[in-house]
Amino acid sequence: MSKRFSNKIAIITGGANGIGKAVAYRLGKEGAKLAVFDLDKVLLQKTIEEFKKAGITATGYLVDISYENEVQKAVLAVEQEWHRIDILVNSAGIVGPTNTKITAFTTADFDKIYQINLKGTFLITKYTLKAMEKTGAGRLLLISSMAGKEGNPGMIGYSATKAGVIGLVKGVAKEFADTNITVNGLTPAVIKTAMNENTSAEQLAYMTAKIPMKRLGTVEEVAAISCFIVSDENSFSTGFIYDISGGRATY
Ligand SMILES: NC(=O)c1ccc[n+]([C@@H]2O[C@H](COP(=O)([O-])OP(=O)(O)OC[C@H]3O[C@@H](n4cnc5c(N)ncnc54)[C@H](O)[C@@H]3O)[C@@H](O)[C@H]2O)c1
Repeated sequence: MSKRFSNKIAIITGGANGIGKAVAYRLGKEGAKLAVFDLDKVLLQKTIEEFKKAGITATGYLVDISYENEVQKAVLAVEQEWHRIDILVNSAGIVGPTNTKITAFTTADFDKIYQINLKGTFLITKYTLKAMEKTGAGRLLLISSMAGKEGNPGMIGYSATKAGVIGLVKGVAKEFADTNITVNGLTPAVIKTAMNENTSAEQLAYMTAKIPMKRLGTVEEVAAISCFIVSDENSFSTGFIYDISGGRATY
């Protein structure tokens, strides 16, 4: 494996599991030093131990990205430890209710999804960029979803907040386009992770049927494209929403 990320300092949110964990692992194996943010203490400890056994330099930070003080404190701690931040991959997110029409969708559920998927993305992006502004260089990848591009019925909280992430990517990228900081997004179709373990069979069948390759994606496939997106060689793309959908996306 090449060492594209030697001496890079990378924050990965939601890095204790699923897509975030796979991206963190690949970044780490390619030389990055990892700051893994997650709210699941047990999973976080387990993942950090696994990473260390694999020869990866990684520290876990117990952070709920929907709380400003926690995000601010953790980003500052990473900066104090490593003196800069080169990469952010924001993968923390929740799906919320599925197979539920808006008329049955509770406001409390909508608020919770918003707090994590959109406000949390805003917070981690804001504080990471405050650190990156000092060096004028960096790579941000915010994980959105096909649901944000197309709108999945029965999951409007998720679809709406993931569409919000796309708007955030496009706006923020332009604010920093004249620096060496790029901000891009990624919209996966269904990827086999814990996130969709509880997704109703009906909802999952709806989403898989829409994928021309007729299969779920893997976290390793998401890690491969994510690592390219945050690599130095990806230097003339910003504000772009990359695809990993087995042919589902048509734009
Ligand atoms: N799995 C899919 O099919 C799929 C498809 C499209 C997009 N996505 C997106 O990819 C990202 C990762 O999904 P996944 O499938 O790996 O999920 P996952 O549930 O396997 O992992 C998510 C991780 O994020 C952590 N997390 C959740 N809320 C958090 C918070 N507030 N603060 C910090 N950490 C938090 C969890 O503890 C967990 O470790 C999400 O943003 C999701 O919306 C997933």
